[in-house]
Amino acid sequence: MRIDITKTWLPDRKKFDTYVDIIYKNGWVTNNGPLVRELEERLSDYLGVEDVILTSSGTAALETAYRALGLRDFAVTTPFSFVATTSSLVANGIKPIFADIDPETLTIDPEQIEKQITAHTTAIVPVHVFGNACEIDAIESIARRHSLKVIYDAAHAFGVEFRGESILKRGDISVLSFHATKLFHTIEGGALIVNDKRVVQKSRYLINFGIEGPESIPSLGTNAKMNEFEAAMGLCVLDDMDTILQRREEVYRRYEKALSSILPTQKRKSDSSMNFAYYPVIFESEETLKRVQRALNEKSIYPRRYFYPSLDSLSYIEPKQYCPLSRDISCRILTLPISPYLSEDMQKGITKCIIEKLR
Ligand SMILES: Cc1ncc(COP(=O)(O)O)c(C=O)c1O
Repeated sequence: MRIDITKTWLPDRKKFDTYVDIIYKNGWVTNNGPLVRELEERLSDYLGVEDVILTSSGTAALETAYRALGLRDFAVTTPFSFVATTSSLVANGIKPIFADIDPETLTIDPEQIEKQITAHTTAIVPVHVFGNACEIDAIESIARRHSLKVIYDAAHAFGVEFRGESILKRGDISVLSFHATKLFHTIEGGALIVNDKRVVQKSRYLINFGIEGPESIPSLGTNAKMNEFEAAMGLCVLDDMDTILQRREEVYRRYEKALSSILPTQKRKSDSSMNFAYYPVIFESEETLKRVQRALNEKSIYPRRYFYPSLDSLSYIEPKQYCPLSRDISCRILTLPISPYLSEDMQKGITKCIIEKLR
């Protein structure tokens, strides 16, 4: 049987059908429908945040955040992330300037951020990589000193707390992804957690073509709305979060027990809680990584090279840049399969294969 990097949680079919019946009865399938509004409210309670705006994807949420906050010219961001963090900037005419990472926590290094800021920088876009909190205090102090906006790409940080409070409360806006591979999902989807009250309404218009009312279109918008079927999936998955988290923690702990003495993983911050979304391992060389990856693939096990390549090496980035620490880690890091469905036996097959190949 094939084991992928993750397996999408599919909630109870009958429960989902009940929501589908509601959609058919209402005849309301999209455009800020009742299930989207219900999910926004329930997520706001669950996450302990105020303004949750659901979108069609995490990428759409990032792009909306940049527009709502008026980003332009240059933004300082991390080279170690999923490509959408950077491509969403470029697609909106904002040039990404990369600040290298801390090679242990894998998050952006505030000292490097400071070095990259110029008079043309308008924002910092850090990522809570694999749910590990960035250096929030340092980032926010830099942003205040230079009058910059902060948009956290929190695609991996669903449910993570920073010093006992939702990490999503930080920054002008934090952005989540609810893609099917994520801890909590709506098939495709995402959300903006808008902490700057002045841009809550604007963000709502922006995801609906910039329309404020039937006769008013004050700003340039796009179509980034979530539909009712996706919200229905989210409502069902949200009910299952305790089970999802418990099973993922079990998988994570078993990897830790089997591998942590022979393979380094990401160094976790003590002031952020864990959501067990990813288990990355860092090899001594890319050659070893490839050897292990090949052996796993031969057994139909498919870990992913999260994140490779380092985003500062993308061909469309101008000006050309080079972040040595991110490039080095990107070549040596592999993220292992983790899902609520991964059994102990399946996992033993994965760890045994890795251990044998390292001998
Ligand atoms: C760090 C990060 N940012 C942004 C995204 C984009 O989210 P989506 O796939 O929902 O557009 C992802 C998705 O995988 C991600 O991992």
